[in-house]
Amino acid sequence: MPDITIAPGAARDVDAVARLHAQLLADSFLATLGERFLRVLYRRIARDRASTLLVARRGPDVIGFIAGTENTKQLYRDFIRRDAVRAVAAAGPGLVRNPRATLETLRYDAVAGSSSDLPAAELLALAVRPSARGRGVGARLVAALQEDFGARRVSRARVTVAADNTAALAVYVRCGYVRAARIEVHRGRASEVLVWG
Ligand SMILES: CC(C)(COP(=O)(O)OP(=O)(O)OC[C@H]1O[C@@H](n2cnc3c(N)ncnc32)[C@H](O)[C@@H]1OP(=O)(O)O)[C@@H](O)C(=O)NCCC(=O)NCCS
Repeated sequence: MPDITIAPGAARDVDAVARLHAQLLADSFLATLGERFLRVLYRRIARDRASTLLVARRGPDVIGFIAGTENTKQLYRDFIRRDAVRAVAAAGPGLVRNPRATLETLRYDAVAGSSSDLPAAELLALAVRPSARGRGVGARLVAALQEDFGARRVSRARVTVAADNTAALAVYVRCGYVRAARIEVHRGRASEVLVWG
């Protein structure tokens, strides 16, 4: 079996990353906006100087990815400013079908992003294909993002994860993230905010 390597995600990886997000983070609000929307978003993240997209490859296949940013609010602001037309066209009816989830997501960012205790930098998404799980790829991706944050002089970051996502919580705690708050982003569903650094 070829070795698994981790490297910055380029424009050619965006389709594979969007597909992994749609399939493996299907519960997330962004996934409800569809794979086309995710492609627009990940293209922006890959291009944005203050954000990072890393992919794990086995041979030519993208088997996992992680995304992070120095400042989530700024990233979404840039995304709206530069990609709004493309993003709305790509999301299509998803935006209209989910008005409550859209509002809850924006409100979450307003709360988490403006809290004085929570860092502005964020681990935005992490996923590893089921066939590659349990071999340390998730932890390697988190460590690689932390290294990237370090190179950017970002010493603290947050991540929000569903409170019942045992696998993700285990990876984050293993990589030094500490539980900082319990919140409800979407009504009736508890999430944990963890902080590293
Ligand atoms: C979360 C996810 C990325 C983990 O990837 P992975 O490559 O299997 O994780 P690793 O093999 O690096 O595991 C790292 C640590 O977490 C632990 N862990 C991983 N999965 C676990 C599980 N299901 N239950 C308990 N512990 C688990 C491992 O035992 C390991 O700890 P150790 O080094 O002390 O043994 C993967 O399960 C996934 O893609 N899930 C779906 C997407 C998702 O939920 N992403 C997070 C959204 S915020």
